[in-house]
Amino acid sequence: MSTTTKLLVGSAAGLVALVLTGCGGATAEGNGNGGDGGEAAAPKTLRLALNQTEEHPSYIALDEFGQRLSEATDGRWTIDVYPNETLGAQAESLQLVGDGSVDMAIVSGAQLETLSQDFVALSVPTVFDSIEHQMSVVNDTEVVGDLYTSLEDSNSLTVIGGFTQGARSFYIKDGTVETPEDLAGKKLRVQESELFIALVEALGASPTPMAFGEVYTGLQSGVIDGAENNEVSYFTQKHFEVAPSFSYTNHLIGTDYLIINSDLLAEMSEDDRAAFDEEWTAAWEQHTELWTDATEQAIEDAEAGGASFNEVDEDAFTEALEPLVDEFLTEDSQIELYEAARGAAK
Ligand code: GCU
Repeated sequence: MSTTTKLLVGSAAGLVALVLTGCGGATAEGNGNGGDGGEAAAPKTLRLALNQTEEHPSYIALDEFGQRLSEATDGRWTIDVYPNETLGAQAESLQLVGDGSVDMAIVSGAQLETLSQDFVALSVPTVFDSIEHQMSVVNDTEVVGDLYTSLEDSNSLTVIGGFTQGARSFYIKDGTVETPEDLAGKKLRVQESELFIALVEALGASPTPMAFGEVYTGLQSGVIDGAENNEVSYFTQKHFEVAPSFSYTNHLIGTDYLIINSDLLAEMSEDDRAAFDEEWTAAWEQHTELWTDATEQAIEDAEAGGASFNEVDEDAFTEALEPLVDEFLTEDSQIELYEAARGAAK
């Protein structure tokens, strides 16, 4: 079954069908925003796929990004954010943005690793010391410029920049996690990437790759015993209801990337592209600010819903996971990126 067919039989079939046939926004025809000085171009609405809820900082920052972009370009470019995987889970939206059926998406580093192993350099444990450090790297074209355009020829995708996912930690259905031994033999959901599979194996657990939107029912039904994420998704996806103990393993700081179909991006006039870049900078800055409050709020709300948050033996996790860096960073290009990122640490 093709990706598109799979989507059409999914629960969001109505909306997806509507959007993919172009009724949900402007079509690509006759837009010519690239501007050769000819006729005025038709306004364009970019459909952006997101797997988070409308209360999540990513939705808020992207929605406002779209509104500001529309104002800055006199309505020539607008963004419609589709939350909750309504345009497909991240693995699908990656394909759909590449083939132009969807215009933009937020995808986790784990997804981009399937297209280029260089992204692994920015996903391994230890690459970022803090969110501030991460943001100074993933939105610095000096460091990531070549990486972000490297998928244009092969996949028609351009990476615009990154949002933080914060530090990720484990939670299991039964009990709390204090040392890697507490995860031994557990079936843990991972993002669909070799790095995440290896990470869970290094802790002696059994990895189950699964789309984000399936984790709640996976936990509930017992298909998986646990998962790992940040506090915000732990709360907004309601995982705390089925796995009430969040254990601060802080095993890595994840990145969400904003991707766009490259052909579409090439249609933007120089001025509109400058406005797009400027508003994107404002968007990731706003997202970073929102993140701290959203994390605190998520903890408070999850606790009110019966969840607890516990510290772990962080050294034991660091020791178990450190070898992944050498294991996964084998190419010169990966090592260069990793070192450039480390060089930006304060
Ligand atoms: C975080 C991240 C998402 C990712 C998710 C996951 O919530 O922001 O982009 O999809 O983790 O674990 O799949």
